[in-house]
Amino acid sequence: MSRPIRSFVLRQGRITPAQQRALDELLPKYGLAFPEPIRSEKPLVLEIGSGMGETTAAIAAAHPELDFVAIEVHGPGVGSLLNRIEAGRLTNLRVVRHDAVEVLEQMVPDASLAAIHLFFPDPWPKKRHHKRRLIQPAFVELAASRLAPGAYLHVATDWQEYAEHVLEVLRANPSLANTVADFAPRPATRPETKFERRGLKLGHGVWDIVFTRKP
Ligand SMILES: C[S@@+](CC[C@H](N)C(=O)[O-])C[C@H]1O[C@@H](n2cnc3c(N)ncnc32)[C@H](O)[C@@H]1O
Repeated sequence: MSRPIRSFVLRQGRITPAQQRALDELLPKYGLAFPEPIRSEKPLVLEIGSGMGETTAAIAAAHPELDFVAIEVHGPGVGSLLNRIEAGRLTNLRVVRHDAVEVLEQMVPDASLAAIHLFFPDPWPKKRHHKRRLIQPAFVELAASRLAPGAYLHVATDWQEYAEHVLEVLRANPSLANTVADFAPRPATRPETKFERRGLKLGHGVWDIVFTRKP
């Protein structure tokens, strides 16, 4: 039987005792179970691939008027984010430990989101791995269908060739409109990370791409 091509490879990476404890004790508290539909009282922002959760937790803390759901498959990352939620007493951030494609398909109602954040998705630089890239026409169509009219999709990447690919795929989607002519200045809603600051000092670029769903 053929398996779907996924945008991640789950490796049995190292997990710290604190991250493991968070998965055991905090995931039941702050996690959302797949495939229960996501409901929210406030406008809802979905973050895909939250990694270790540093940016995710900072954004949620800065925006109590919004609800956030972070999707991540990597155990240590989920554990780390759960610890940040607990330490920051964040009441507006929940986590789903599952493939974001299936979460969008099964847990997120049509036209329900205020925004989707996709920060530094794996660029899969080798040509034979391009099929693993998250940003593809079918994924963008799915993501766009979950945005409310006027809501935005924000992708950031430090890989120029991927940035150009993202711009091309988003431009080709008839339900989305670019907020600027091509690449956007970094919106205030995306805090600069340590990793990014170091890269910028070394002369590496970061590209932000922000499209909205047409009314
Ligand atoms: C390069 S990391 C970036 C993490 C974080 N956004 C940051 O800026 O530091 C990409 C993350 O996306 C996650 N990821 C990739 N595909 C995913 C998917 N289909 N569903 C959920 N998470 C995914 C990976 O596990 C990884 O943690």
